[in-house]
Amino acid sequence: MTARDAQQAEVAAGFEAAFGMAPALTRFAPGRVNLLGEHTDYNGGYVLPMALTDLGVAVALGAGGAPGAITLRSLTLEDGVTRQIDEGPDGHWSDYVLGAVQAVARDRVAAEGLSIALATSLPLGAGLSSSAALEVAVLRAVTDVFGIARSATEIARIAQAVENDFVGMPCGIMDQFAASVGAPGTAVFLDTRTLEHEAAPGLPGHSFVVVDSGVSHQLTDSGYATRVAECQAACKELGMAYLSELGEGDLERIDALPEPLNRRAAHVVIDNALARAGFAALQAGDAAGFGRLMHESHATARDNYQITVPETDALVAAAEAAGALGARQTGGGWGGAIVALVPGGAVAELCVTLERDFPQTRVLAVT
Ligand code: GLA
Repeated sequence: MTARDAQQAEVAAGFEAAFGMAPALTRFAPGRVNLLGEHTDYNGGYVLPMALTDLGVAVALGAGGAPGAITLRSLTLEDGVTRQIDEGPDGHWSDYVLGAVQAVARDRVAAEGLSIALATSLPLGAGLSSSAALEVAVLRAVTDVFGIARSATEIARIAQAVENDFVGMPCGIMDQFAASVGAPGTAVFLDTRTLEHEAAPGLPGHSFVVVDSGVSHQLTDSGYATRVAECQAACKELGMAYLSELGEGDLERIDALPEPLNRRAAHVVIDNALARAGFAALQAGDAAGFGRLMHESHATARDNYQITVPETDALVAAAEAAGALGARQTGGGWGGAIVALVPGGAVAELCVTLERDFPQTRVLAVT
């Protein structure tokens, strides 16, 4: 049994314990680790995320119950709540579920109600997209139980809209796309403007090691919205719709922007180029080259986009000292996880070294 199947069996048992009946179905959606291209997605750029194999959110669901009520039980948080289908958001974790259900099945649930149990194996605040996994798992379950046809790409778009318009987090589409369309353990090179995408090959003999720094980020409280606003301000100054319209030939125009807009625009140009080069390096099987790109990507996140913290800077440096070909902070920023590209023979020792030298860290995945 895969870890995904085991998690779904567990949530089905939790559903039965909570609601006294078997669920109609269970669904799973994974978290993601982003390999290159950070904060480029809402700038119309390229990203290179990988859906995780084992870590994600499992949902068990049954229709029926009081009309209009969604009765929810989180096995992970040991928390339960009942929401009404027409309610607005109230800041509780159940907003992600309520927003997703409203987006596709408002009328159905108004008529017959819904019971949902869920469990996550993704640490919250680690930058591995626990909220996108939750939205996508719920959308999969709700569309399937009511026989509503939606493609994987449509589910990604709906999940992003839930996050933007219901929860109020101005994110791009990378996380929801990786959770809905990404194949387990396979990086996908995505053009966030057109949604054209291509699966990338892995690097034989190497692993991506994901390590939680122990510094929890909370994107809704953090500078994420500030960065989005800074990018919009830079676009306005430059007279363009998306910063990814800039290329490496535009450095003079970027330099002429006021601080910190110049740095923000420079980051988007650099990380966009790194994501493209990274896809090419994966296709060429160039592990050393890919590692160098990860190293550069961390540097621009630290110096230009200013979204790293001392703990992730130190962890990245330690991973590289312990044999990683390159490492970087991954996800929205201000803490969370790092990802390191490590030759197979060095993985075990690197994990031991990092967990020993940084007691608050934890190795989450080796893919
Ligand atoms: C969060 C957002 C994504 C993306 C990343 C940064 O995970 O949800 O849309 O912007 O941050 O790359």
